[in-house]
Amino acid sequence: MARETWATRVGFILAAAGSAVGLGNIWRFPWVTAENGGSAFLAVYLGIVLVVGVPGLLAEFVIGRRGKQSPVGALRDLSGSRTWGLWGVFYVITAIALISFYSVVGGWILRYFGESALGLVGAQPAYFAAPGQYFGGVAAGLDALAFHLLFLALTALVVFGGVRRGIELGTKVMMPAVLVLLIGLAVWAGARSGAAEAYAFYLRFDVATVRANFFDVLGPAAGQALFTLSLGAGTMITYASYIDEDRSLPFDATVIAILNTLVGVLAGLVVFPLLFSLGVDPAQTAPGPGALFVGLAGAFAQLPAGALVATAFFGVVVLAALSSSISMLEIPVSFLVDEYGLGRRRAVALVTLAVVVTGGVCAINPTVGGTAVFGFVAGPLVDTLLTAGLAAVLLFVGWVMGHDAISELRAGGGDLSAAIATPWLLAVGVVLPVFLVFTLLTTFGLSGSLGFWPTVLVAVLVGAAAVAGLRTERALV
Ligand code: PHE
Repeated sequence: MARETWATRVGFILAAAGSAVGLGNIWRFPWVTAENGGSAFLAVYLGIVLVVGVPGLLAEFVIGRRGKQSPVGALRDLSGSRTWGLWGVFYVITAIALISFYSVVGGWILRYFGESALGLVGAQPAYFAAPGQYFGGVAAGLDALAFHLLFLALTALVVFGGVRRGIELGTKVMMPAVLVLLIGLAVWAGARSGAAEAYAFYLRFDVATVRANFFDVLGPAAGQALFTLSLGAGTMITYASYIDEDRSLPFDATVIAILNTLVGVLAGLVVFPLLFSLGVDPAQTAPGPGALFVGLAGAFAQLPAGALVATAFFGVVVLAALSSSISMLEIPVSFLVDEYGLGRRRAVALVTLAVVVTGGVCAINPTVGGTAVFGFVAGPLVDTLLTAGLAAVLLFVGWVMGHDAISELRAGGGDLSAAIATPWLLAVGVVLPVFLVFTLLTTFGLSGSLGFWPTVLVAVLVGAAAVAGLRTERALV
């Protein structure tokens, strides 16, 4: 059977941007920015997106478009090595880990969306009375499980439809809706009293904070950049396996990165004026679930037309989360379809069933060995998997594909692609992997005990060893 491809140019961009735009932008981005120096941090973040994010996107695109298969088949066939194929399974596992916790948060959001919409027809949204207590009651346990299943079912439904009639069609509706609703909300929020203060808090150009915490900020900023651009999970490899040779990859990558940043900035322009207008001190509200589901939910309760605003807001978050979760589900699905010749529908059913279990555990959130499962999966596990996943992609492109990567990047790309191709390959093969290993070490807290320069040295050594290992393996093929 012929492999499906995107029907339109804009279809791929919107699907990939839909994958990128998600909870990371709305849930996390505004807080990370506000806490770490406002617009000065934004500048650092943009620098990382440009220097790490866009080249990283290009690396996944090049593998995907050249390989025309799921990450497993693409890595195996492009390298001619079964070890690389095995490594491809790593992305299937990462995707399952991602969707396991993501669909639980998606479930919470669905619930808040439903509650808010009920508020439109008269009833008071249940979370209005005591937001903190309400969230505590629904975040884990059977309630969370039920809504996790609902969110997962919606995700599966879209992926069921296939590349064109499911993912492309879905994201073509979802992404514009997210943008329009967010802009409307930002304008509305800007008219609240206290908006000026909020902007000053959110976007102040605070170089001192950035400078004081530069190395502390680098890790989280890099982690955020990977997560928000959906890098290191094989998503972009998978999506790019459905595109044709006639398009400029650097152009698409840049548009996706810009759209993604835009949504993050817009989300902050909605969140902070709301909190400030009610005298809630954002510095006192913990980022993450608490901020979104307690701080903001409490704000909606006090606003004029609060239920309406809440419905629009949670509607945005539902759509953004859904367009990301479908991209996670598509990875294992494409693996089963490409490797085992399963029909799409059967593959979707199988993967969904697996995530009913793994996500179910996250929804119930038991404590294993003193650690709550949800926090572990959503935090250190996913961070580490994504960082290691992207490092491998970069080394693959730089050292295994080499010239093939350059010619793939140039295909359909015009003069710009030709000009950036060689510096790009150098960055991807050498500079960025070392940078990622460095962040990986800081994530494990090794930098604290080792000190800064030793950590850099270890990063360089690990990077060099990896490169040497890959070269030998390739020589054996
Ligand atoms: N980029 C998505 C977000 O910001 C999350 C994601 C990560 C999606 C990795 C796919 C792969 O919410």
